[in-house]
Amino acid sequence: MCGIVGYVGPRGSQEVLLGGLGRLEYRGYDSAGVAIISANLQTRKRSGKLQTLRDELVANPLDDGHTGIGHTRWATHGAPTDVNAHPHLADGGKLALIHNGIIENFAELKAELVAEGTEFTSETDSEVAAHMVAREYHRTSNLTEAMRAVVARLDGAFTLLVVHEDSPGVVVGARRNSPLVIGLGKGENFLGSDVAAFVEYTSDALAIGQDQIVTITKDDVTVIDFDGNSVTPEPFTVTWDVSAADKGGWSSFMAKEISEEPAAVADTIRGRIKNGEVQIEGFEPSALIDVDRIIIIACGTAAYAGLVGKYALEQWARIPVDVELSHEFRYREPVISDRTLIVSVSQSGETMDTLMAVKYAREVGARTLSICNTQGATIPRESDAVIYTHAGPEVAVASTKAFVAQVTALYLLGIAIAQANGKGDSKVLAAVVRDLEATPAMLETVLLHGERIKTLAKWMADTQAILLLGRHVGYPIALEGALKLKELAYIHAEGFAAGELKHGPIALIEPGQVVFVIVPSPRDPHSLHAKVVSNIQEIRARGARVIAIAEQGDAAVLPYADEVIPIPLASSFIEPILAVVPLHIFAMELAAAKGLDVDQPRNLAKSVTVE
Ligand code: AGP
Repeated sequence: MCGIVGYVGPRGSQEVLLGGLGRLEYRGYDSAGVAIISANLQTRKRSGKLQTLRDELVANPLDDGHTGIGHTRWATHGAPTDVNAHPHLADGGKLALIHNGIIENFAELKAELVAEGTEFTSETDSEVAAHMVAREYHRTSNLTEAMRAVVARLDGAFTLLVVHEDSPGVVVGARRNSPLVIGLGKGENFLGSDVAAFVEYTSDALAIGQDQIVTITKDDVTVIDFDGNSVTPEPFTVTWDVSAADKGGWSSFMAKEISEEPAAVADTIRGRIKNGEVQIEGFEPSALIDVDRIIIIACGTAAYAGLVGKYALEQWARIPVDVELSHEFRYREPVISDRTLIVSVSQSGETMDTLMAVKYAREVGARTLSICNTQGATIPRESDAVIYTHAGPEVAVASTKAFVAQVTALYLLGIAIAQANGKGDSKVLAAVVRDLEATPAMLETVLLHGERIKTLAKWMADTQAILLLGRHVGYPIALEGALKLKELAYIHAEGFAAGELKHGPIALIEPGQVVFVIVPSPRDPHSLHAKVVSNIQEIRARGARVIAIAEQGDAAVLPYADEVIPIPLASSFIEPILAVVPLHIFAMELAAAKGLDVDQPRNLAKSVTVE
C-alpha cells in the first residue's frame, strides 16, 4: 500500500522521483520521502501528502544526483510522522532503504540488532531492514549480496529498495508478495511499485517475480532469485501513456474515471467478439469444459463485480458459482478440487488478501484465472491464466471504471465458457453479445444525467445515512453503491437485497430516510419489477425519501419515487452496468459537496498490499 520509485541515470533524480511518487500517491499518502546520492547520500522526508515534501525540498533543498529512491507511505507500523516516514537510514546515514509491506518477524530481528548496539529512531519494521542491510553490507561490500543475506531472514510481505553512498549508481530491490516492476530506459533504468512510476520515461518494462532481487545501474539490469541464481525477467510493454495517468483537466481523477466508464467497457470488449463468438487472447475456454464449480474471490468493489458475474456465469454456463471474500476464503479450508476454477478479480493485481487466496488455491490443486486491470501485476503472474480488463490506469482510490470493466470481463468469460461447453442457449448468448456491444453508447446516455445527480447530492449534503435496495443483479449494485458512499462521503450506507426488506431492514425506515432503489426492467424475465415497486410503496408508506434508478419510461415507479434517475432500456444483465454509474456519480458529488477529498479519502489506499 505504499508507492515506491527507484532511479539511476543521467537525469536529476529528484525530478524523476517526485514525478513518479506523484503518480503513485494513490497507493498511500500518509508521508513521503526521497534519498539521493550526489557527493554523499542526502534524505528529505515529511509526514503528510507529497506536496509537503515538495515544499520541504524548496525550503531545504538537497544536492541533486543521479541515483535515488522515493517513497509515499500508507502507515502500517508507527504513526505517520516525519521520523516514521521512509527512507530509513543506517550505517551512519550512508545507507537509505524504503519498504512496502509488513515484516512479520521484525520484533525479534530488532531485538538482535539492539543487543548488538544498534540505535533506532523510528517505530517501524522497515528501519530494522535498513540496519540489517547495512550490517551485511559491511560484511560483503556488495549491496546485492547484502540484500540477499537479509531477505533470507525476513518473514512477511515486502518490496525493499536500498542505496548506499559507497555504491553510487546502484539501486538494489527485492520483492516477496509485494509489487515491483522495472522500467527500461536508454542509459537509465527505473524501479517502481507499478508502471505509473516511470511511464513518463519509458513503456518498456520487466516484471520481477516472487522472491527475486534486482540490481539496476544506468546501463544494466540484473535479476537473481533469493538463492542467487540468475533469472530472466518477463518483458512487457505499457500500453497507456502518462497523460492517461494525469487528470486531463477533470476536477478529480474520479470524475475523469467515471467519464471513462463507457470506454472501459468498450476497450475490455474490443477484439474479443468475432462474429458473435467470444474469443479472448491467451485464454482457451475449452480447457475449462470439465470445470464443475467456479469460485470468484475478490475484495471490496471487485467482490461486488464478482457477485454480478455470479448471476451471469451460472445462468449462461450452467456451472455452480460462488463468490467469496478473499480474506475469508482460505481460512475456512474450502472443499475444492482440480475441477474447481478460482477466478480472482482485482483492479490492482496486488491485493494481498486476494493474492494469498490465489496462492492457497493453487497449492490445493484448483485452477486459477485472474481478471486484472494492471499489466505485470503479481496476481496474474501467480495465476494459470489472465483476462485483462482494459480500463486504463485507475488512480482514484474509489474504484469506478474498473468495476464496469470487471463485470464486462466476467460476462465475456461466462459467454466464452457457455459457447465452449455448449450449455448456453445460443440465442440468449447472441443477444447478450449484442447488448454488451451496445453498452458503451448506453453508458454515455447515463452520464448525461451527471449535473442533475450533482444537484441532488448538494441538496442531500447533510444526509447521515442512506439505504440502497436491489434485486437479482441489482443487489450487488446496491452493495457497491453503499461502499462508495462509505468510502467517499464517510456516511453510514447499507445495501440490501430488496427481498430482505420485510425480514428486518424495514425497521430502519422512518420519515425522511433516504433510500436508493435499483429497479429491474418492467420486461424482467423473473417479474421482479412488480416486487420491487411494491417495496418502494412499502417504504414510501413509512415516510422514506425514494430515489429510484429505473428504466427510461417506467411509469410504475413514478407515483412512488421522489426522484427517478432514468437509464436506457437494456436487458437485465446490462442494467447493473448502467445503474451503477449514477451511484458512482452521486457518491462523488456528495463527497465534493461535503468538501471531502474525492481522490484520496481518509484512511484508504488504492491497493491493500498487506493482509
Ligand atoms: C473500491 O472502491 C475500494 N478501493 C476497494 O474496495 C477495492 O475495490 C478493493 O480493495 C479491491 O482492490 P483490487 O481490485 O485492486 O483487488
